[in-house]
Amino acid sequence: MNLLSAARPLLPDLQRIAAETSYEQKGILFSEMLFLGACLDGKKPARIIESGRARGQSTHVLALMFPDTEIASIEYDDKSPDCPIAAQRLAPFKNVKLLFGDSTKLIPEMLREGDVVLIDGPKHFRAIRLALELVATGKPAAVFIHDVDRSVPERHYLDKSVPGLVYSDDEAFVQEFRGLDDKCWPVGGANDTAWEPYQFGVDGLRSYGPTMGCMRRGEVRVGLGARLGLEIASLKHRLGKSVAKRVK
Ligand SMILES: C[S@@+](CC[C@H](N)C(=O)[O-])C[C@H]1O[C@@H](n2cnc3c(N)ncnc32)[C@H](O)[C@@H]1O
Repeated sequence: MNLLSAARPLLPDLQRIAAETSYEQKGILFSEMLFLGACLDGKKPARIIESGRARGQSTHVLALMFPDTEIASIEYDDKSPDCPIAAQRLAPFKNVKLLFGDSTKLIPEMLREGDVVLIDGPKHFRAIRLALELVATGKPAAVFIHDVDRSVPERHYLDKSVPGLVYSDDEAFVQEFRGLDDKCWPVGGANDTAWEPYQFGVDGLRSYGPTMGCMRRGEVRVGLGARLGLEIASLKHRLGKSVAKRVK
C-alpha cells in the first residue's frame, strides 16, 4: 500500500468533516482518521467496531466518513459523564450503535469476517493483547490501535516482534496532512504537559501525536513467539513501574 496516494483522494472529505465537526480533547485526531480511511484503501467495510467511545469524537468522524457502514461503538464506563455527551452528539446517526461493556470480552464474541476494529480503550498492553487475539482469528480486515507513539513500550514491542504494521506518525504522511488537526491543539499556553504536536508530558513525544497503528489482514502475522513476547514485554513493563514506585 502507498499510504500517501491512498490518503490523497480522501482528503477533501476529511477537510469537510474537520471544518464541520467540533473537536473533543483526547479524541482521535482528524489526520489519524484520514490514516484509517487510507489504510482501508477507500473501501467501505460492512461494519466497524470501535472500542473506547468516551465523548464520541472518533465515533462521530467514523459515522460521517462511513455513512453506509454500521458503527458499533463499545464503552466500558457507563457511569462516566462522557456518556450523555456522546449519546447526544451521536443521536442523529442511524448507522451508529452505542453498546456498553468490556470490549476484551464483547469483541471476540461478536467479531465477524471482514469487520474493521478500532481500539482506543483499553490502553497499553491490554490493547495490544486484544488486537493480536483478533488478528489471530483471521477474521478482521484490519485492526487499528491508538496511542502507539514512538515513546511507549507497546510500540517498542510491536517494532521488535510484530512486523508489518503501518503507523500514522509516518513523516511524509504527517507533513502532508497535519493541517487537518489545527483545531485539535489547545490554544494558548504551551506548558510541559500540553498536548500539542511532538509534545506531551515532561519529555515530549517522539511522534507527532498519539499515533494510530494499523494491522491489515495478510500483512501482519501473529505467531506464538509474538504472543509470548507480548507477555514478557508487559511483565517487564509492570515490574519496571513497580520498582520505580518503590525507589521514589
Ligand atoms: C481515550 S478514550 C476514547 C476516546 C474516543 N475514541 C474519541 O476519539 O473521542 C478511552 C475510552 O476507552 C474506554 N475503555 C477503557 N477500557 C475499555 C474496555 N475494556 N472496553 C471498552 N471501553 C473501554 C474508557 O472508559 C474511555 O472512555
